[in-house]
Amino acid sequence: MLSSRFLLVVFLLMSYAEVLQAQLNENLLQNIQNREKISLDGEWKIIVDPLENGYYNHRYLPKEDGYFKNKKMESPSDLIEYDFDSDASLTVPGDWNTQGDKYYYYEGTIWYKKSFDYIAAPDQVSYIYFEAVNYEAKVYLNGEYLGEHKGGFTPFQFDVSGRLKEKDNFLIVKVDNKRLKDAIPTVNSDWWNYGGITRSVHLIDVPKTHIKDYSIQLTADKKAIEGEFLVQGHGTKDVISLAIPELKGKVKLKVDDQGRASFKIDVSPDLWTPENPKRYRIELAINNDKLIDSIGFRTIQTVGNDILLNGKPVFLKGISIHEEAPYKTGRVTSEEEILTLLSWSKELGCNFVRLAHYPHSEKMVREAERMGLMIWSEIPVYWTVSFDNPGTYVLAENQLVEMISRDKNRAGVILWSVANETPLSEDRNVFLRKLISKAREMDSSRLITAALDTQSGSDGVKVIDDPLAESVDVIGINSYCGWYVDKPEMCSDYKWKNLYQKPMIMSEVGAGALQGLHGDKDERWTEEYQDYVFKTNLEMIDNIDFLRGVTPWILMDFRSSRRHLKKIQKDFNRKGLISEQGEKKKAFYTLQNYYKTK
Ligand code: GCU
Repeated sequence: MLSSRFLLVVFLLMSYAEVLQAQLNENLLQNIQNREKISLDGEWKIIVDPLENGYYNHRYLPKEDGYFKNKKMESPSDLIEYDFDSDASLTVPGDWNTQGDKYYYYEGTIWYKKSFDYIAAPDQVSYIYFEAVNYEAKVYLNGEYLGEHKGGFTPFQFDVSGRLKEKDNFLIVKVDNKRLKDAIPTVNSDWWNYGGITRSVHLIDVPKTHIKDYSIQLTADKKAIEGEFLVQGHGTKDVISLAIPELKGKVKLKVDDQGRASFKIDVSPDLWTPENPKRYRIELAINNDKLIDSIGFRTIQTVGNDILLNGKPVFLKGISIHEEAPYKTGRVTSEEEILTLLSWSKELGCNFVRLAHYPHSEKMVREAERMGLMIWSEIPVYWTVSFDNPGTYVLAENQLVEMISRDKNRAGVILWSVANETPLSEDRNVFLRKLISKAREMDSSRLITAALDTQSGSDGVKVIDDPLAESVDVIGINSYCGWYVDKPEMCSDYKWKNLYQKPMIMSEVGAGALQGLHGDKDERWTEEYQDYVFKTNLEMIDNIDFLRGVTPWILMDFRSSRRHLKKIQKDFNRKGLISEQGEKKKAFYTLQNYYKTK
């Protein structure tokens, strides 16, 4: 009979192995930014298909020979009622809504086709990697189904080894951004439902034996760097090496039969901070697969009401940002747009950004980290999703897994947010608690949060008593005193109570204003009104002794299909401190001055 002690040891080993394993994702290549890749960006031919006629027959059953076959007339009598090559085209990456008036309000299916030649390299594995497609993508290569993905803001890939031809490959994606009750996000949100292949598409060739994923972190005691690798196509004798030249850190490891290896190096790096966003060149190699990365090292934790960065209390001087492009509007697609948004945040005096309400691009996250901005990253469990629907939970968890998998090595990311403004219910609590434990299972080195708007209380006293606050590390609170509730002059006297010994971030606070509209401070939509709301709310914030950060709503005006006041909003949420044409409003300088005092 196996002794209980022996069973205990096995269990411990198993759970340690399980914990380690959970971090890595065999379905997603890590660090594609630094990998050799062929871009499939540019003009794609499209077919707009509101009835999904390219997919379903007249009995509404999936077709064998749908548009994914890219059929061509071979004889004059052939009947083929579509032709990508003589149809319209759209630019990838990019949403379709801002690429032409006829697509502006369009929600539904658009078929995308990209033709390309390909020179096969011997002994390679080939992946087609999508950085993001909103919302549902069904993907076909040379007429064959590769698979599908749901969720508009996280990456996915397909192994297409041996399926590429030298000439005239055609990659076809059925993109559908229809809003669905049981989806994530659900049917209503306060941002424009930009559809399309909104981020870059890559063809990535890697050697048969290649580094699939890795996690590299500073140990909690800051005395070492540890992590784990996942190798695909490994042989029993293969050795993986990691070098951090600047720290004279180097390890060579044999991978186990699962292609995994974990390591610990006793080095003390300079720690990543907003003032000194130090990142180290990391060199990884196994056989002829070589990869470099830039990784910063820091610890982040909470003690009582404090948030500690590298063991020191920190105040998060933040701003909320939507992935709306300055000037051209629509989804952000260029480094320049990323730099513009983040430089404005730095100009405000920020050391922190809340990337709302969905994972922004990997480039955005890496750039924010390089610029010394700490990051709140969130999945779009937004408002009233179907908390009682197991299918909806799977969609949410997938997005969480993909978000953490992609950005787990980014020191800049300090907070994972699992939700925004979700209504109180037991189903909701169960749903979100499961997400929180999944996040903790995947990444024990970061803080977990959610943005709540459930505070109770009356007569100027606000009580944070949401049961979900029990399960997070940091409590995000959205409060719109002076805009949706109460008069601006009442806000500075607001008193806040927190039933939980945990730090709070005011994750949303603010007011709308049309840039250039001036008047009395009690005249809505004027810059003076917005500025007045900021002034009184910042006074309120100064009186909250457990508050450790703020991310006012929002850096720049952004498009939303809930904003119909034509003479002011023109389909834009006007709570930005800057208009979408880059014009600063009064409140920008009020917040900038406030951050100088912090
Ligand atoms: C909410 C919500 C935001 C929205 C904002 C607003 O709090 O979280 O997505 O844009 O309020 O109403 O402007």
